[in-house]
Amino acid sequence: MNMRIAAVCGALGMPVAAAPADELLERIPSTIEAAAAQYEGMLAAIQGDPGLPRTTAGGKRVMVGPKDWTSGFFPGSLWYLHEATKAPRWREAADAYTRRLDSIRHFTGNHDVGFMLYCSYGNGWRLTKTPDYRDVLLDGAKALSTRFHSAVGAIKSWDNPRWKYPVIIDNMMNLELLTWASAESGDARFRDIAVRHADTTLANHFRPDASTWHVVGYDPETGKPAVKQTHQGATDDSAWARGQAWGLYGYTMMARETKNPSYLAQARRIAGFLAKHPRLPADAVPYWDFDAPGIPDAPRDASAAAIMASALIELSGLAGGDEGKALLDLARRQLLSLTSPAYLAPKGENGSFLLMHCVGHLPGGKEIDVPLVYADYYFLEALLRYRAAVRSTPPK
Ligand code: GLY
Repeated sequence: MNMRIAAVCGALGMPVAAAPADELLERIPSTIEAAAAQYEGMLAAIQGDPGLPRTTAGGKRVMVGPKDWTSGFFPGSLWYLHEATKAPRWREAADAYTRRLDSIRHFTGNHDVGFMLYCSYGNGWRLTKTPDYRDVLLDGAKALSTRFHSAVGAIKSWDNPRWKYPVIIDNMMNLELLTWASAESGDARFRDIAVRHADTTLANHFRPDASTWHVVGYDPETGKPAVKQTHQGATDDSAWARGQAWGLYGYTMMARETKNPSYLAQARRIAGFLAKHPRLPADAVPYWDFDAPGIPDAPRDASAAAIMASALIELSGLAGGDEGKALLDLARRQLLSLTSPAYLAPKGENGSFLLMHCVGHLPGGKEIDVPLVYADYYFLEALLRYRAAVRSTPPK
C-alpha cells in the first residue's frame, strides 16, 4: 500500500496494513542505552588508570598502552556513543581517551597505525572537525607510509624475524587512513600506496574459493610471495574467521573509497564464501575458525561477527538488488544474535565490555572466549550503520 492511500484509509478509520516490523531496528535504542550504561561503568572502573581497556584475563580487565594495536577502539566506541546519543558527556570522554594516542602519530613500529588512529582520531575528526585531530591523522598517514616497499607493492605488517616481509590480511583495514589522508591533503601518494597494497593483496592473499590466508611472507628482493601461512588461525590453509572478516571489510571499504569494480567484486566473492559456508552456525556468529577442530563445540568469535555485520551492511548498499538484500539479511541475523542475551553482557559484568564470547589468539593460548574491545567497536558501528541503511531505504 502506498503511503498516501494508507494515510487516507487511516483518516477514514479503515484498517491500515502495518509496515513490517523490523525487530533489530526496534532493539537498537535499548541496546545503545545498555551500551552507554555499561561503558559508564567502564569509565568509572578505569578512572585513574593511564591505559586503555582491551579484554579480560582470568576475569580481570586488561589495560594496554597506546602502542597496542587495539588502543584506538575504546576511544572509537566512545565516539560512536556520542554519535548515537549526542550527549556531550561522551564527546568529552572520547576526546580525553583519543588524546592518549597522540604519540602514535609518529609510530612506525608496525602497520596498526590505521587501526589505532583512524578509529579514534578519525571518528573524532568526522564528528567534530577539531583541527588538531586532522594534524595527528596526517602525521599518522606519513608514519604508516614509511612501511611501504615498492618492490613488494605492500605495507609491511610486522617486524618479525619469522618472516622477511610479512603482510597480513588485517592490514587492509589500515588503508582507510591513507585514502582519507589523500582526500584531505591533496597528496595522491597516500592513496597510491593504499591502491598498490590492495592490488598486491588481491593478487596473492586469496584462494580460489575466496577465503584468505592470514600471512603472506614476501621476498623483498623479488617482491614475490615466499610463504602463505597463518599466525592466529587453526592451520595454514584454514579460514580464520576474523581474517575473513578483515578481508570483507577491507575490500568493501576500498570499493567505496576508489569505486574500483575489482574491489567490489572481491568483497562480493568473500561475502558469498562466508554466507554460504556450511559451517556458519544458525545464529550466524562464526566459530573462531571456519575449519576449527571440534566444531560444533569450538568457541565462537563474536568479534568476527561484528566486523562482518558492519561490512555486510555497507556492501549491501554497494551491491544492491537481491544480493544486497540477502547481505543485509545476514547482517541483521548476526546483529539479532549479538543484541541477544546470548552475546550481549548483563550490566556490570564482562569487565564492563559489551560483547561476550570472542577469540583473540587461540593458537597462542590467549584471549579465548573473552570480551574484546574491537568486537564492541564494530558492534556499535554496525548498529549505527544498520539504522542509517534501513532509514534511507524503508521496507516497501
Ligand atoms: N589484527 C589482529 C587481530 O585481528 O587479532
